[in-house]
Amino acid sequence: MKKIALGVCSSVSIYKACEIIRLFQSEGFGVRVIMTEKATRFIDPYLFTSLTGERTIVHLFDDQQRPIEHISLVDEVSLLLVAPATANLIGKMASGIADDFLTTFYLAAKCPVLVAPAMNEAMYLHPQTQENIRKLKSLGVEFVEPDTGYLACGKKGPGRLAPPEKIVQQGLRLVRAKDTFRDKVVLVTAGPTREFLDPVRFVSNPASGKMGYELAREAYQLGAEVILISGPTWLEPPPGVYLERVTEAAEMKEAVLKHYARARVVLMTAAVADFRFRKTRPEKIRKTEIERTLEIETTPDILEELGQHKGQRLLVGFAAETGQAVEKALEKMKRKQVDLMVANDVSQPEVGFASDENEVVLLWPDGRSRKIPRTSKRKISQEILAEVEVLLNERKSKR
Ligand code: CTP
Repeated sequence: MKKIALGVCSSVSIYKACEIIRLFQSEGFGVRVIMTEKATRFIDPYLFTSLTGERTIVHLFDDQQRPIEHISLVDEVSLLLVAPATANLIGKMASGIADDFLTTFYLAAKCPVLVAPAMNEAMYLHPQTQENIRKLKSLGVEFVEPDTGYLACGKKGPGRLAPPEKIVQQGLRLVRAKDTFRDKVVLVTAGPTREFLDPVRFVSNPASGKMGYELAREAYQLGAEVILISGPTWLEPPPGVYLERVTEAAEMKEAVLKHYARARVVLMTAAVADFRFRKTRPEKIRKTEIERTLEIETTPDILEELGQHKGQRLLVGFAAETGQAVEKALEKMKRKQVDLMVANDVSQPEVGFASDENEVVLLWPDGRSRKIPRTSKRKISQEILAEVEVLLNERKSKR
C-alpha cells in the first residue's frame, strides 16, 4: 500500500488532521502520524492510532523493536506532509535542528516534503518566519499557503490552516505528477450551458459537471496546469485548478478560444445546449405575451471549430446518447476530428447525467475501442487520462 507520513504540530487546527487522514485513505494511501511532544497536549496520540491503524510516533526512542525507526520509515513513505506546521517547527526545519522524531525524520526523508503552516498572523508574517519559509522553498520544500480569516486568537489575517481538501490535492500532485503532464496546459469544459429567453427563462440540460470536475482534479494531480471552463453547477471547484465560469454556449466558446493557444489537451465534457432563442428579451416577458411558437437557432459547435484548428493539440470529445451510442459517437468523432471519443448511453438508469457513476466506451479514430464498465466518475477520469497519457507519449516518440 502507498503510504504518507503526516507530521502534526501543536495548533488549534490539529483536529483538521483527522480529515486529512481520511482523505488520503479514500485515495488508497496509508498514513503514519508523527506528532510533536507539544501536539499531544491538544490530542491524545491514540486518536490518530485509531484512525490510521498504526502506532502514532511521538518520541525518538518509543519503539524498542525498531530502534532507528526514523530511518526505516523513510523507505516506506512517498510523501512527508506537515499539517498543521507551527512557526517553531518551520524554524527548526529551516535551521536543520533535529531534536525530536519529526525533525529528525525530515532530515532523513528522501521523499517530497509539503508543509501547511498554521499560526497567529503576526507570527506568520514575521520576517523570521518568512525567511525560514523562503529558505525551505529554496531547498525544495513545498508549502500550502494558509488561508486568511479569523484565527484561534480572535485576530483576522493570514495563518489559518488551508482546507484539508486543498492540502491533500497538493500532496497527491507531489506524489502522482507525471513528466508527460508537467508544464502542459489541460483545458476542460464542464457542466451544461443555459440559453436564456428572458432573465427568468432558459433552455438547458441536466448535466451536473461531475465528469469534467473529476477530470480537472485528476489532470491537476498528474501535474498539469488545468483550466476549467464551467457552465452553471453546484460543484466545488477542485483546488489548484483555474476556474472560469460561463453561462451561455457563446460565452463558453469565447472562454475556450481565449485559452486554446496555450492548451495541449482539451477535454470537452460540457453538455453545450444545442439551441438558443433567435430573439431574446432583457425584461421578463408576461406569460400572456409569450409567443406560442418560439424561433430557435443552433448554438456554435465549439468542438467542431476546435477540430478545424487542431495543430498539435489532443482533442477529447464526449457523446451522451440515448441508444446506438457507439455508432453516433463514431460519426461525431470523425466530424469533429477528435483524437479520443468517450461515448455513453444516458438512457440507462443509474449512469450518465448527474450520477456519480458512469459506463462508457472509448473510441479511437484508428478503429480501436474499449469499454469501461460501470464505475465511479473518478475512476473513469483516471482511465481517460491514462489513455491521454499514452496518446501524448506516442506523439512524442513519433516526433
Ligand atoms: N459540443 C460542442 N459544442 C456544441 C455541442 C457539442 O463543443 N454546440 C461538444 C460536446 O462538448 C461534446 C461533443 O461536442 O464533447 C458531442 O456533443 P453532443 O451534444 O453529443 O453532440 P452534438 O454535436 O450536439 O450532436 P447531437 O446533439 O445532434 O447529438
